Amino acid sequence: MAHLAVNVDHVATLREARGINYPEPIAAAVAAETAGADGIVVHLREDRRHINERDVRLLRKIVQSKLILEMGATNEMLGIALDIKPDCVTLVPEKKEELSTEGGLDLITHEHNVRETVASLKSAGIDVCIFIDPDLDQIKIAHKIDADMIEIHTGAFCDAKTERQKKREFIRIIDSVKIGNKLKLEVNAGHGICYNSIKDFAGLHEINEFSIGHSIVARAILTGMEQAVRDMKELILRL
Ligand code: PXP
Repeated sequence: MAHLAVNVDHVATLREARGINYPEPIAAAVAAETAGADGIVVHLREDRRHINERDVRLLRKIVQSKLILEMGATNEMLGIALDIKPDCVTLVPEKKEELSTEGGLDLITHEHNVRETVASLKSAGIDVCIFIDPDLDQIKIAHKIDADMIEIHTGAFCDAKTERQKKREFIRIIDSVKIGNKLKLEVNAGHGICYNSIKDFAGLHEINEFSIGHSIVARAILTGMEQAVRDMKELILRL
């Protein structure tokens, strides 16, 4: 069965919307783990719009499953990661004006810098995943620069407006999962996945982990975090 890594960024988004000290992303992480989350994900952004350093430090102490830190490949973030030592870092591109991560990290443009970041993190014993578009050239570079894992960006598939577009995007995902496996990379998937679109991944058993945030936190507002995580785990169990 594929794992479920739960992203709790948007609990912090709600906190920051008021500039006060609740809701608490740490409490959400504990509830997610209680309900069976296999990992907790947070994205420490340069502008600290949701998760902040204090959150990551507390999560490092509290998370019992696996702490996954999403971050840009910058010197500032590298310093923080080497200090806090999450179990895994997922390297993502970051644009100030984006609402959420818009696409995969372009390794064709950033190979040199990302290679150095991967090496520094790995030498500190941190597993490294690279968030990339479902593109064979990108996956080959991720392998070449010694990443442990890739996370295939599923946003274009999940947001596709027509069946034709959806089909085309899914073929790209299938091909990417297969090539990733062939290159012995652990293959994860994430972005835009909800309680409907998760079902489309049925039969694609080579995916090791799904990283899901918005849809789970959105459901948690109505059902509570534990129920929201249990519902998603149940769907993943059936894939
Ligand atoms: N994976 C990565 C690399 C992301 O940046 C995000 C969003 O923070 C997610 C997965 C989760 O996406 P969503 O919130 O749409 O489930």
